[in-house]
Amino acid sequence: MAISMQLLVLLLTFLVAATAVSYNHYRLPTSLRPQKYNLRVLTQLEDPANLRFEGDVTILIEALEDTKNITLHAKNLTIDESLIKLREINGDRQICIASTEVNTVHDFYIMHTCQELLAGSTFELTLPFNSELNRQLEGYYRSSYQDANETRWLSITQFEPASARLAFPCFDEPNFKAPFVVTLGYHKKYIGLSNMPVKETKTHESIADYVWCEFEESVPMSTYLVAYSVNDFSHKPSTLPNSTLFRTWARPNAIQQCDYAAEFGPQVLNYYEELFGIKFPLPKIDQIAIPDFSAGAMENWGLVTYREIALLHSDAHSSLVDKQRVASVIAHELAHQWFGNLVTMKWWTDLWLNEGFATYVASLGVEKINPEWRYLEKESLNNLLTIFRKDALESSHPISRPIQEVAEISESFDSISYQKGSTVLRMMHMFLGEDSFRSGLQSYLQEYSYNNADQDNLWESLTEAAHKYRALPKSYDIKSIMDSWTLQTGYPVINVTRNYKANSAKLSQERYFLNTQISRAHRNNCWWVPLSYTSQSESDFQNTAPKAWLECGKAGETLPKTIENMPNENEWVIFNTQVTSLYKVNYDEQNWKLLIETLTNGEFERIHVINRAQLINDALYLAWTGEQDYEIAMRLIEYLQREREYLPWKSAFENLKRVGRIVRQTPDFEFFKRYMRKLITPIYLHLGGLNDTFASIEQQDDILLKTLVANWACQYQVEDCVPHAQEYFREWRESPNPDETNPVPINLRNTVYCTSVRNGNEDDWQFLWTRYKKSNVAAEKRSILTSLGCSREVWLLQRFLELAYDPTDAIRKQDSMWAFQAVASNEIGFHLAKNYFMANVDSLYKFYHPITKDMSRLLPPLSEQIISQSDFDNFKAFIKENRKSLKGLDQALQQTLETILTNVQWKERNYHQLTRSIQLLL
Ligand code: BES
Ligand code: ZN
Repeated sequence: MAISMQLLVLLLTFLVAATAVSYNHYRLPTSLRPQKYNLRVLTQLEDPANLRFEGDVTILIEALEDTKNITLHAKNLTIDESLIKLREINGDRQICIASTEVNTVHDFYIMHTCQELLAGSTFELTLPFNSELNRQLEGYYRSSYQDANETRWLSITQFEPASARLAFPCFDEPNFKAPFVVTLGYHKKYIGLSNMPVKETKTHESIADYVWCEFEESVPMSTYLVAYSVNDFSHKPSTLPNSTLFRTWARPNAIQQCDYAAEFGPQVLNYYEELFGIKFPLPKIDQIAIPDFSAGAMENWGLVTYREIALLHSDAHSSLVDKQRVASVIAHELAHQWFGNLVTMKWWTDLWLNEGFATYVASLGVEKINPEWRYLEKESLNNLLTIFRKDALESSHPISRPIQEVAEISESFDSISYQKGSTVLRMMHMFLGEDSFRSGLQSYLQEYSYNNADQDNLWESLTEAAHKYRALPKSYDIKSIMDSWTLQTGYPVINVTRNYKANSAKLSQERYFLNTQISRAHRNNCWWVPLSYTSQSESDFQNTAPKAWLECGKAGETLPKTIENMPNENEWVIFNTQVTSLYKVNYDEQNWKLLIETLTNGEFERIHVINRAQLINDALYLAWTGEQDYEIAMRLIEYLQREREYLPWKSAFENLKRVGRIVRQTPDFEFFKRYMRKLITPIYLHLGGLNDTFASIEQQDDILLKTLVANWACQYQVEDCVPHAQEYFREWRESPNPDETNPVPINLRNTVYCTSVRNGNEDDWQFLWTRYKKSNVAAEKRSILTSLGCSREVWLLQRFLELAYDPTDAIRKQDSMWAFQAVASNEIGFHLAKNYFMANVDSLYKFYHPITKDMSRLLPPLSEQIISQSDFDNFKAFIKENRKSLKGLDQALQQTLETILTNVQWKERNYHQLTRSIQLLL
């Protein structure tokens, strides 16, 4: 029966492809609405050759309009049509199914009913289904781990954005919310987890040693948030008093790594309850580390899933960066429990309401729990740096974008939804102030609880609060301001031209592009820009409230603005205090000179640390695109020799990395190298070189600074960096039990491993590879994997690339991209990786399918190093010839091409100018 069903499905698929389908719109019809799901799934994990699930779903459906069909989602499921049952609740009537149809374009399963289903009536539909537990890391899939040389299997779901349909037939769109009653069947040696707590467990009526575990009915929720798992994991209960029952799960041999997550999770959950003024609505929350997981983590309501690296922490193996990452991922997923789960976007167009909010709120959460990390500031700058880059591409897109197919939804989980979303929320937070922002959010969450919203709903709530708290003039509304940020691509550069005689400044805006060939006419978008600023004598960077606004006209045209009361001619001004808004600033030459003077004469601390990072970033970008001279930019960053704070260094390194990747392929690299050494040496020495000074570091962010500087110092062979790193490595190699004792300071391990592989031999590589295979800690494994790509031996790199895509070997599919990226970022490996990608694009596509997002991550390290016109032409032709194996990567490919183009432009225009200004400074 099952076989003939599959044949039938196949046949139908052909028919659908060949003939016109009866319903081919990308959204489900609105005639029906699910009211409740009863889902039963039996999972078989005992036979590794046959890992399967089967079950049935009963959906209570309300008809809102008359209809003769039931259309819902199902994909890769075997459904025995003869067992489908449909019953009208009133009158208890069976209704037969006349025929079924499959639409493979939109994953619809369509049942044509024998009678019309009338508006106002309610129906009960039962569908049986079964399938294999797949290996694709989405839908209902398998994962495994090794325990004493034995493979242990588990099952887990990943449904967002559109994979619930792979696990059971359902109305798989975020606006169809309904309560779920989940029941799991499995062998009694396992445990079952789902969104809700267990209601009762019974023995299975026919299968020996099997049980049925029924969970409580959930609150109304979207299908993409449903989750369940069958596994043999251990858990650690949290102990924070007066909080929701909270458990952290992992494979038994990693349970000691759950302590930190178990402690941090409930703390941040409590903070959110207070911040949002709404209690977490479920009776429990579980967080679980899954050995094979495609995303970083997933916010399933009450059962949050993570990659191991994003949840597990080991004091002996994880660096501070790793620990902060765990905190921020937990904070992000728990923020979703409100933004996303309780209030969900109406359609994927507004995905940023989920991801932007979770990203921003997470940074508030981490800051609250660990203020000593200064995480908020760091995260804000990181987001800004990312967006200043990505959104300067013509091929970028608005935060809010139309979505018609699943591939487009997946592409939307990008830095625009996350980092730009978060950045514009921070901007709003800052211009509205604490009270009105909080109150606006609270009423938004209240009003749309258990429901769906779009960005206009958010604007309304915030406008109301803003006016109530007098945070915004009555003539302004949030929608006009914020639509300019969420519906338009890009961000502006504001040109500030001071009139030193009249003590005024003229401001104008235009879109900032990396591609310098884009004409003026294409740049004249308009953004509503809150203007905060301070002067040299005032130096008040605490006040981030706007002193004025750059407004837009009725037709969206830009309106120039003049600001009076500027300081006198020997004082600078700085716009965008604490960089609360997303814009670059270009000043006139005199103002730049005044700024350089203050930075270089030792008074740089008069300028707020995040504004120092801003000045570095703006000056280097504007030089990159030819709107400033490299001479000015390079003179400005000279002051870094005295800078001792993390943010300005982060900003400088991000920019110099980009330049370095090009210059290192040219004869003038010699000068750049010398220059970098000169810049880095003072801070390297100040932080004690590679000496293990960590115990005496008081400021936590000095740990991160040291990690960052060490990495650059060894890359540019500053002082004793390389030999010192090798010394650590040698000690480790000589240790009798290297898997137990590792003398390398945890926060320097990336640098020490990479430097030692880079300057080492085959044995060093092999030693590290053995450690990789033996390590039980995800963070350590990642840092080793990344370092294995640092070798300069072509054959080692080539072998490593092939290992990454060898399914029988030690690298999990989810981690393969890290290996590829590591090789591709290495100047020798780059050529190998590029060739590998181009020669194996078909098999790479198959390897990553259907998660094309992971494949798209292979591209940036390549595009960042391609710098010649002929390589650009080649790559373009390659894309054209391989459309089929690059399906779903459209956005990434456009960004790749544009990035290469801007490299070519830069090399033609700026490379000599840069070398000249460097030589002046050596
Ligand atoms: N909702 C996402 C998970 C997700 C990502 C589902 C992509 C489907 C496609 C989750 O909340 C998330 O954003 N995860 C991030 C990590 C987070 C801490 C930034 C991720 O997976 O990268
Ligand atoms: Zn998220």
